[in-house]
Amino acid sequence: MVATGGLGAGKTALLTTTRELAARRGCTVLAARGSYLERELPFGLVSRLFVCVRPGEEVQHLPRIAAALGQSDTLAEPGPVTLPELPVLHRALARMAAERPVAIVVDDAQWADQPSLQWLSTLPHRIEHLPVFALAGSGAGEGCKMNREIADALFVQLRTVEIHLTKVYRKLGIDGRDQLAPALRLVG
Ligand SMILES: Nc1ncnc2c1ncn2[C@@H]1O[C@H](COP(=O)(O)OP(=O)(O)OP(=O)(O)O)[C@@H](O)[C@H]1O
Ligand SMILES: [Mg+2]
Repeated sequence: MVATGGLGAGKTALLTTTRELAARRGCTVLAARGSYLERELPFGLVSRLFVCVRPGEEVQHLPRIAAALGQSDTLAEPGPVTLPELPVLHRALARMAAERPVAIVVDDAQWADQPSLQWLSTLPHRIEHLPVFALAGSGAGEGCKMNREIADALFVQLRTVEIHLTKVYRKLGIDGRDQLAPALRLVG
């Protein structure tokens, strides 16, 4: 299930309540958020979702999954998700779901890395027989109107606006636009 909406629509609030309800009802909750600064890191989101999950032996032959699940220090190669990578993650999820229902809650999915998103999008077909519930919140992404409007107003490329925004986020120690307003309030 995907909850979409503009800035401040209430996506994070909905996801937080969902996490609390799921935990209260005895589900294993896997929660993570997409990170603007890590959006190029393959399986970055999966690694944050599966942070407490013990991978099976099989990951040794899949360097990107091994890296994502903390089993290797090698840098994950970029590129779309490959066919053998999918079942390993599905099996890890199935092992968890055999013990207790699992709730997967992903915030800011617009900043999730591509392989993680591809894996998430396969879930409805692969795990329909399992007690797994997945909810993602997704806001405006990189090509959102605001960035474009800024670029047009300043007669600069969209990429230039994005590069400057990334620098601002880094200086403020934040991951994305949703954290901008509170961070700016803090610095006055
Ligand atoms: N149902 C609600 N009733 C009252 N206030 C709400 C409700 N949902 C969210 N809010 C408030 O609205 C504000 C924005 O909510 P939230 O951060 O969940 O939005 P968001 O869609 O995640 O925003 P962003 O696009 O910036 O990530 C917050 O201050 C939150 O407490
Ligand atoms: Mg939010």
